[in-house]
Amino acid sequence: MVKLYMMCCGYRAVWRRRMFWFLLTFFAIAIITISLMSPDNKKIIDVYVIEEHHEALRHWHHLTVVNRMNRTGNMLIHIDAHSDMASPEYVPGFPLFKWPVGEQQLFTLLQRNDVFIQGAGMIGMLDHIMWIYPSWDKTSELDEYSSFFFEIGILTNRSVGERTKVFCECHTPVEIHADEIIAGMESECSYLDETKSISEMEVKIKKEECQLKRRLVFEVIVDELALEVFEKSAWLNKPKNIILDIDEDHFGCERGGTSLENVDVPWSIVERLDVLITDLICAKNPIHEEAGNKLMKDFIAAFVDICQMARQSTTCNISGQEIVDRVKGPFLKQLHLMPRMLCHDRAITVVLLQRIVEVFKRLKYNHLLALAELGFCMNTSPVTFGFSRGNAQFKICHGANTPNNTLVVIHTPDQDEVTRRMSLVRSILEHVTLMQPNVVTLCRSVRDGYTPRHLAKRIEDDIIDFFAQSHEGIKYNVIYDDNLLGGKEGWHGRYKVHVN
Ligand SMILES: *[C@@H]1O[C@H](CO)[C@@H](O)[C@H](O)[C@H]1NC(C)=O
Ligand SMILES: *[C@@H]1O[C@H](CO)[C@@H](O)[C@H](O)[C@H]1NC(C)=O
Ligand SMILES: *[C@@H]1O[C@H](CO)[C@@H](O)[C@H](O)[C@H]1NC(C)=O
Ligand SMILES: *[C@@H]1O[C@H](CO)[C@@H](O)[C@H](O)[C@H]1NC(C)=O
Repeated sequence: MVKLYMMCCGYRAVWRRRMFWFLLTFFAIAIITISLMSPDNKKIIDVYVIEEHHEALRHWHHLTVVNRMNRTGNMLIHIDAHSDMASPEYVPGFPLFKWPVGEQQLFTLLQRNDVFIQGAGMIGMLDHIMWIYPSWDKTSELDEYSSFFFEIGILTNRSVGERTKVFCECHTPVEIHADEIIAGMESECSYLDETKSISEMEVKIKKEECQLKRRLVFEVIVDELALEVFEKSAWLNKPKNIILDIDEDHFGCERGGTSLENVDVPWSIVERLDVLITDLICAKNPIHEEAGNKLMKDFIAAFVDICQMARQSTTCNISGQEIVDRVKGPFLKQLHLMPRMLCHDRAITVVLLQRIVEVFKRLKYNHLLALAELGFCMNTSPVTFGFSRGNAQFKICHGANTPNNTLVVIHTPDQDEVTRRMSLVRSILEHVTLMQPNVVTLCRSVRDGYTPRHLAKRIEDDIIDFFAQSHEGIKYNVIYDDNLLGGKEGWHGRYKVHVN
């Protein structure tokens, strides 16, 4: 090494090396600059298409790392059927009202699809949130327009389960004027007790009990009024660093398993199958997820075929052992092809297949058809906090809203309603994009079953189409996240099986 170094260091060589580094730097800067501009010198804004909403925070965080977004002083414009403003759990390693240091701390903010906005507020990324909700959500007790100070703090006086510290929040109504915000007198403070049933989780507390650490401005607007509010709000004309975030479930919200409910598959059987399948297949990423989906759908097709089931109400009366002997092949092959995808060895895999066959034998032909149609998926994205610590599940793709376990308002729009709302949303986007957002995140919410699956592609195509059209001085660059269910194509891009 020393000799080589000596040989290269004559005067000319030094000059050449300097020239080389100069040119390299020059081209590097040129390439970075060009890559941030489109050929006609337009500003580039990334549009990230994500599956689950908390994944947005990874991309926002990434943009601060590459200096394309500020760490503080951002305003979130959030178009969504749900506020997603629930309180995160205070897990070990959580960055307590500080910017996250390292991947692990960032990871603790990605707990769930409805707690990442408070997380982003706690670390200082957001100071103003405007939530635009759809007018079909009439049953919630929301005013057409309301504005609050949304304050977040720590409650040390109570404990939830094993956690001795929990986060708490206080809401105080405010009036927003161009130059000042006037707060009302009354505040409502609460925390979430996740050990309680979903309707009793919110526990009211006194303001003194919540040690407040962060204050955000939170505006809630029904979509039909959004344009009017944009026109009136003087503060909106001030330059802002905007994050634009859209959830496709703004257009409608479902329970992913409705197709099973419609043919009366007993939910207890769905739950039993979930337990068995998640013990059989340990999907760790979207590749495993799709391979597992194919295995299970082919399994159902083979089962129906072997049992010669043909009419709506027939069940199977072939011996379970015989069926398992005929369907186990593709599963056992996976032990070599994709060894990490199955949870267990050969012997246990066969036992689990036997148990699944016993459950299948309790189902009718039309139940099995509905199962094969719905398919199988992970319960959440691999970037979700807790995924690698045993919270990952692979099961029937019925999503998070199950018959007895949801507070969300269910709404299935027809095509006309989607058309009408899309034109409203596009005029909202028109307005917001004039403010040149730093980033756009577009969340599918299809894996978790919120967005009506039969409408998701249409909704997404129409929104992407908006960004693809020309906007003065801006080019939108659409990026599909790695962890989308069904990849870029989405729900309809997944494996389809023909069941006789
Ligand atoms: C960061 O904030 C400052 C002040 O608001 C603004 O001038 C600047 O453009 C922002 N940077 C980015 C990358 O948005
Ligand atoms: C702690 O909470 C209990 C009941 O929840 C209350 O009676 C007590 O006053 C609280 N203590 C403080 C210091 O806030
Ligand atoms: C839902 O709850 C009701 C009342 O508690 C119960 O009767 C019903 O069986 C439950 N349904 C499911 C699918 O668990
Ligand atoms: C199984 O089904 C066939 C044809 O439907 C019927 O003939 C036979 O009796 C059934 N066997 C049992 C054990 O139920």
